[in-house]
Amino acid sequence: MARGKFITFEGGEGCGKSTQVRRLKAALEQRGVTVLLTREPGGTRLAEQVRSLLKDEADDPPCDRAELLLFLAARAQLVRKVIRPALESGTWVVSDRFSDSTLAYQGYGRGLPLDIIREANDFACEGLKPDKTILLDVDPETSRARMRGREASTNTTADRIERAGDDFHSRLRKGFLEMAAAEPSRIVTVDASGDEDEVWERVWKSLTPIL
Ligand code: TMP
Repeated sequence: MARGKFITFEGGEGCGKSTQVRRLKAALEQRGVTVLLTREPGGTRLAEQVRSLLKDEADDPPCDRAELLLFLAARAQLVRKVIRPALESGTWVVSDRFSDSTLAYQGYGRGLPLDIIREANDFACEGLKPDKTILLDVDPETSRARMRGREASTNTTADRIERAGDDFHSRLRKGFLEMAAAEPSRIVTVDASGDEDEVWERVWKSLTPIL
């Protein structure tokens, strides 16, 4: 049984990941591939509980280090319980965020040391790396407009991390682009401006080499 492929989607807020993740699953299934979708943080009961803790608006928000460790705890559980067994059984796994988000958000965004995050990430994932990562890149204005649109259509407000401010979000974008430049064979940067269909065409094309 051939090992499944592991594909992750990354990007800042409002980059349209969740839609593209669903489209990729449908397109792969049409080709007869068995696909499991995961999202981070989450995907197991424990990891979903950690997600609630991280998104919680309570009066005791995690400090930056606690935030980092909570994301890593959720990831360790998801990798060990879900992602690895799926890949080993030949299932392809498509994940809405993975370890690059931690380097971008907790490293470039919060300012925690990148080398420590890389090592801790590796420990949490037992060395697992995606076969391909799609970085959906949008400019800050598009990102803000999409977030406002989402808040209006779902009648929700931005959460603790989404509200982190323009400087934080610019650092994130810079971080993601630096990471893509450092690992060009794994991370493909896809222009996520334009409508859903245009972005999807770019995503699909960028995956041709591994399909
Ligand atoms: P989302 O699933 O709606 O994108 O929410 C996940 C939020 O958590 C998003 O704001 C990005 C953030 N995040 C981190 O800060 N670090 C991480 O390692 C991950 C996976 C997500």
